[in-house]
Amino acid sequence: MERTMIGEVGKRAGKAVKLLGWIYRTRSGKNISFVVVRDSTGIVQCVVKEGVKGFADAQKALVESSVELTGTVRKDDRAPGGYEVQVSDFKVIGFAEDFPIKEQQSPELLLDNRHLWIRSQRLTKTFKVRSAILGAIHQFFRDREFFEIQSPSITKMACEEGSTLFEVKYFGEKAYLTQSWQLHAEAMASALEKIYCIAPSFRAEKSRTRHHLAEYWHAEAEAAWINHEDSLRLQEQLVSHVVQAALEKHRKEIEELGGDIKQLERVKAPFPRITYKEALDRLAKKGVRMKWGEDLTDLQSRELARDFEKPFFIINWPKEAKPFYMLENPDDPETVMNADLIAPGDFGELIGGSARETDVEKILANLKQQGIPPKNYDWYLDVRKFGSVPHAGFGLGVERLTQWICNAEHVRDCIAFPRTINRVYP
Ligand code: 4AD
Ligand code: MG
Repeated sequence: MERTMIGEVGKRAGKAVKLLGWIYRTRSGKNISFVVVRDSTGIVQCVVKEGVKGFADAQKALVESSVELTGTVRKDDRAPGGYEVQVSDFKVIGFAEDFPIKEQQSPELLLDNRHLWIRSQRLTKTFKVRSAILGAIHQFFRDREFFEIQSPSITKMACEEGSTLFEVKYFGEKAYLTQSWQLHAEAMASALEKIYCIAPSFRAEKSRTRHHLAEYWHAEAEAAWINHEDSLRLQEQLVSHVVQAALEKHRKEIEELGGDIKQLERVKAPFPRITYKEALDRLAKKGVRMKWGEDLTDLQSRELARDFEKPFFIINWPKEAKPFYMLENPDDPETVMNADLIAPGDFGELIGGSARETDVEKILANLKQQGIPPKNYDWYLDVRKFGSVPHAGFGLGVERLTQWICNAEHVRDCIAFPRTINRVYP
């Protein structure tokens, strides 16, 4: 007999099915066992009565034992999901030891047992949504004729703040894990023009926040011949497309996870924009202090987000608050042609992006001003020396986006094996 996925059991009422899965919950009386079985598509209660083949194993198999069973589907309004399976043959494929995760466990124990906890309903649903998000990002760029390219994970250069670089011993030389593909992408954009990549970025984040990972998946795009405005439009279209695609495929999961369906449905381009200067004014009116040149704290970002029902851009940040590569604002050289896209609610920054400085002298001056020795940037400057063109790009945090869509408490629950300041196991 062919396997039926548990999510499809309801379509086979009155018929025989074969199920493969793991024991999610089990409860036995003297003559009967109620074994709730899960597979990747759902859970269903299976009733094993005395006399059925495998009854003794059904009585003793512990939670997370893997099983194969055949039986008949019956509609039963009392069963979770509205159906149950009357088992005729119950076989244990792998007996489980006593499962280390019980109800009401501490977050630390769950993280120590992450390799087992990823089986939980909550994480399984989140990873399904994450998969849809990644698929939608690929589709968005491919539909617009962006080429997917890859860039090195080991590099000699800082792209973002030097304080979050992970150092790597590289055959006696000092190198780093990449913070972003951007610098290499800028070089590639002079070949393929419109490019994107989804890859891990690394940040030695010393802060413990709900939004920071040491290794996260970064969806980045770069395009030649586009300006800041074009880039903003691409960003809002990308986020709108991904949110709607995730809702279309996994509305049920997002709802069960506590995602704000109404809010997500409203996520359609264009998104509101405020300047950094306006952000300071808005905060001042709310009695929240922030000085010119500072980055947003979680609290400040949350306070600003109260004014918006959709993601919103904060544009034109002070030059000193941002990396060396950003294009100076011709109308106000104190600021740059950049934007951070902030999520509604308490999820912080989803995207960082900018138009890139095209003037070699300005880049050199910025490097000097930020105390970065220009030596390792020679090749990067060549991109400007050999047919420099206006170009722009951005980077989206895949886990941040997943966190917001799924309304996850912590960004670490949006990646299977999170890497944070105090965790690199399992
Ligand atoms: O704002 P960031 O640092 O921008 C860059 O790296 C640019 N070079 C991107 C580009 O223009 N190609 O990072 C981009 C996004 C952030 O908005 C955030 O969503 C995510 O990456 N991010 C993190 N996500 C999880 N954990 C961290 N520690 C993150 N740091 C950044
Ligand atoms: Mg940023």
